[in-house]
Amino acid sequence: MTKNMTISSIKKTKGVRPLVMITAYDAIFASLFEASCDMILVGDSLNMSFAGKSDTLSTTLEQMIYHTNAVCMGAKNSFVICDMPFGTYTDKDKALSNAIKVFQETPADCIKIEGGKDKAEIVKHLCSNGIAVCGHIGLLPQSVRSEGGYKVKGKNDKEILQLVEDAKAIEDAGAFCMVIEGVKAEVATEVANCVNIPVIGIGAGSGVDGQVLVFSDMLGLFEAFTPKFVKKYLDGAALVKDAVARYADEVKSREFPQEIHTY
Ligand code: KIV
Repeated sequence: MTKNMTISSIKKTKGVRPLVMITAYDAIFASLFEASCDMILVGDSLNMSFAGKSDTLSTTLEQMIYHTNAVCMGAKNSFVICDMPFGTYTDKDKALSNAIKVFQETPADCIKIEGGKDKAEIVKHLCSNGIAVCGHIGLLPQSVRSEGGYKVKGKNDKEILQLVEDAKAIEDAGAFCMVIEGVKAEVATEVANCVNIPVIGIGAGSGVDGQVLVFSDMLGLFEAFTPKFVKKYLDGAALVKDAVARYADEVKSREFPQEIHTY
């Protein structure tokens, strides 16, 4: 099976063209995204967008494995990233045994972990044991409870220095790319410019090496709130509600099914 993208082709896009990443949690949507996207992220955001929870923290490794397999079934040619859930990479041995489980039980191409300099040893251990790693720096959704909310990063010199150090540490540890989330645009650009691997932004402006969005946000399916950084490319919720309302009306009026839908 030839994949659309590989680690080496992903790295080669740096300075050439922006990478396109999107999340998916199931086979049907993944199959629809394959033609247009370089990478599909099975994000632990599925805990909110799929399971309806208020944050990502209760996602389990088993759930990530289940959804990663579904995505890989739907998008067999896509480069697929499996997000490691909260609590599954607290030390390097735990991280490695959990990442090996992901690699043995799914065809995922790499895993993603949140954290910078503080996670560099773990990233290095994973990479030196055959696990490809995508980093994730800046706003870390798995730290929402300890930080008391989702806080945009890069707002002062200390935070800027921290972001630059985080990016360099993750690159030095062997990650092949990283996500940067919720960072002031000019700072994210500076961070992307200080490493040689692609830095893919979400809420991090246009000067980085690619973009990622949660699919249910960009398709307008998630109605509860729309973060500032999301562009809705479809009014999915309205379209779905309208279609289901028409179906309900036609069932009630016996307009559906017609002869052509009948054996
Ligand atoms: O879980 C997720 O969807 C993510 C993106 C926000 C990058 O980590």
